[in-house]
Amino acid sequence: MQNTISGFSKLTKIEKVNWILKIYFNNDETSRNLITQYWNTDEKLQKLHDEFIENTITNFYLPLGVAPNFLINDKLYTIPMAIEESSVVAAASKAAKFWFKRGGFRAEVISTTKIGQVHFTYPGDKTDLKNYFESVKSKLISDSSAITKNMERRGGGILDIELRDKTEALENYYQLHATFETLDAMGANFINSCLEQFAQTFKDEAIANNIKGIDIIMSILSNYVPECLVKAEVRCHIKDLKDKDIPNPKAFAEKFKQAVAVAEVEPHRAVTHNKGIMNGIDAVVLATGNDFRAVEAGVHAYASKNGIYSSLTHCTIENDEFCFWLEIPLALGTVGGLTSLHPLVKFALQMLSKPSAKDLMKIVAVAGLAQNFAALKSLTTTGIQQGHMKMHLMNILNQFEANATEKAELIEHFKTNTVTHSAVVEAIEKLRS
Ligand code: MEV
Repeated sequence: MQNTISGFSKLTKIEKVNWILKIYFNNDETSRNLITQYWNTDEKLQKLHDEFIENTITNFYLPLGVAPNFLINDKLYTIPMAIEESSVVAAASKAAKFWFKRGGFRAEVISTTKIGQVHFTYPGDKTDLKNYFESVKSKLISDSSAITKNMERRGGGILDIELRDKTEALENYYQLHATFETLDAMGANFINSCLEQFAQTFKDEAIANNIKGIDIIMSILSNYVPECLVKAEVRCHIKDLKDKDIPNPKAFAEKFKQAVAVAEVEPHRAVTHNKGIMNGIDAVVLATGNDFRAVEAGVHAYASKNGIYSSLTHCTIENDEFCFWLEIPLALGTVGGLTSLHPLVKFALQMLSKPSAKDLMKIVAVAGLAQNFAALKSLTTTGIQQGHMKMHLMNILNQFEANATEKAELIEHFKTNTVTHSAVVEAIEKLRS
């Protein structure tokens, strides 16, 4: 096949760039400059980033923004957010300010249990397997002591291992379903190492005990962590919702509640509703060096826990009190992995006063709730486009390479005119003619 290459990973970075430029860019110098322009001049820093992954050719920037004025359990935070979508940080900041004046956010960690599984097949007698598991269970744990001793010293470790019979779902399929407490670590490496040790012991001891036919399929943590839960909430008397955009707080509260109810029963809306929540969550998860794909997968699975994809937030109005909350599973770490490597992640964590994993769970959940509040507030009052297009104005101006004077003039102009792509283009052309 054309363009295949073997041994690519063994090439130097320059050789990799050269190969790409030759194959895909006809050795174009502008493309070379683009790639090299993003290299950091500090070689040590660049090397650190190069080594996060394989085959690095350059850096891919995302803005790191901050949303100040987040009052969470009476403590004030400025929340770091790494995200490309123009309106997200502005929306978070607005929601933070709104709730700051109304007592702030409350957040609590409900549970912190993480899960991993050894998946295997066994065609033999179920009782034999059950008896074998009971006899080997303590050895599964003791054989892992080299892996678990540090975690145990800090108060975490393996919580339990169960044998789960899944043969109704899949012929001969069973699991060792293990639960873990990993404290401030996200725990992926710890859990996976324990699981691989369980699998090894389980196999070896089966041979020694004359249990034939156990075939290990795989050992891996689960990113579905419904027992690693956090809840974030805001509440106030309906009349206190009054604001310059909310002249009639009772009508606003009712409509807001309806908007949440729609997302609770209608999956098409729920997906977009939850996407808005993830705008806030992913941005903080990314800025704090956590695995946003794991968080996304787990959160969306949780949104489907009742058999229909549904809203992650809920709203009630009882005795004239407006209450809006979010409950999500979040497996996060504030030690290990990228958290101790990426300089900006360290900076972000320091800005959050070096949170524990539990603290970070609360902060991230609050960012998600704030984002959803801001989105629903806009959607049920002015509509989303007004704010979005205002933020998008800068993108359009940059696209047309507007200089500082042009930008200032056009931003002023669009304070009182509706932003649309064509209106901005027209205004730029008029200004330049
Ligand atoms: C856009 O990124 C997110 C929203 O669509 C979320 C929502 O509709 O709730 C505004």
